[in-house]
Amino acid sequence: MKTDVTEIARGVHRISTFHPDFGIQFNQFLVADDEPFLMHTGMRRSFQSTLAGVRQVLDPERLRWIGFSHFEADECGALNDWLALAPHAQAVCSFVGALVSVNDFAARPPRALADGEVLAIGAHRLRFLATPHVPHGWDAGLFFEESERTLFCSDLFFQPAEPPPLTEGDIVGPAADAMRAGAKGPLANDIPYTPYTDATLQRLAALEPPTLAVMHGSSFRGDGAHAIRELAALLRTELLEPVKR
Ligand SMILES: [Fe+2]
Ligand SMILES: [Fe+2]
Repeated sequence: MKTDVTEIARGVHRISTFHPDFGIQFNQFLVADDEPFLMHTGMRRSFQSTLAGVRQVLDPERLRWIGFSHFEADECGALNDWLALAPHAQAVCSFVGALVSVNDFAARPPRALADGEVLAIGAHRLRFLATPHVPHGWDAGLFFEESERTLFCSDLFFQPAEPPPLTEGDIVGPAADAMRAGAKGPLANDIPYTPYTDATLQRLAALEPPTLAVMHGSSFRGDGAHAIRELAALLRTELLEPVKR
C-alpha cells in the first residue's frame, strides 16, 4: 500500500494510506516536535505503511506520545507495535478509554487525560477535549493543537475514496453525501445523536480552528468554525429530525 505524507500545518504531517478493501483513506497525523506526537496508530495490518510514512518525517523511535479518539482498530489497533518500536512512547487517551480498554490492551500503561488537560510537547501544545459519543464511543475525545490551532477531528467529516490531502473547498457537502449513502448500508448509525452532540460540536466550533485534520478524507484549511457549525446542522437534519417525525 502506498503512503503519502503531507505537511498540512507547520510541523503537522498527514500520513495517509488508501485501503482499496475499504475504499477509504486512513490518515494518521504526526506532530513533529521535541516530544513527537502521533494521532491515531492506524490498523495493525497497516503498521509497516504507517511506519514508512513516519520515517519520512523523523526517527520513529523518538515517538513520545500516541493519541487517539476512541478504541477502534484504525484509531489504536497498532498501539502495541508502536510501543514495541519506540521505547519512550506512551498512549494518551480519555479516563474512560484507559479504564475500559487501554489499561488492559496496551503493553505499557497509558496516561489518562482529563477534559481540558494540556500536553506540552515543545513548540506545540495539545489540549485534550473529552467528547463522549462524538464522533462515537463512550470513551471518545479529540485533541486540539493550540499553537497552529489544528483540530484533530477523528471520524468527523468522513469522506470516502481518495480526495486530495488538503482542501480549502467544501468538505461538508462530500461528508453529507457520504452520510446519506452510508445511511442505507450495513455501516449506518456510525454517529449517534445524543443530548450532548450539538453542545459538543458548538464547543469545537468555538475553538475557531483554521485547520481540520480529518481521519478519512481531505483535511481542511479555512473557516473551521463555520465548517463545524455546518456539520452540526447536518447531523441535526440527518440524524435527529427523522427520529422526531
Ligand atoms: Fe471510529
Ligand atoms: Fe476512523
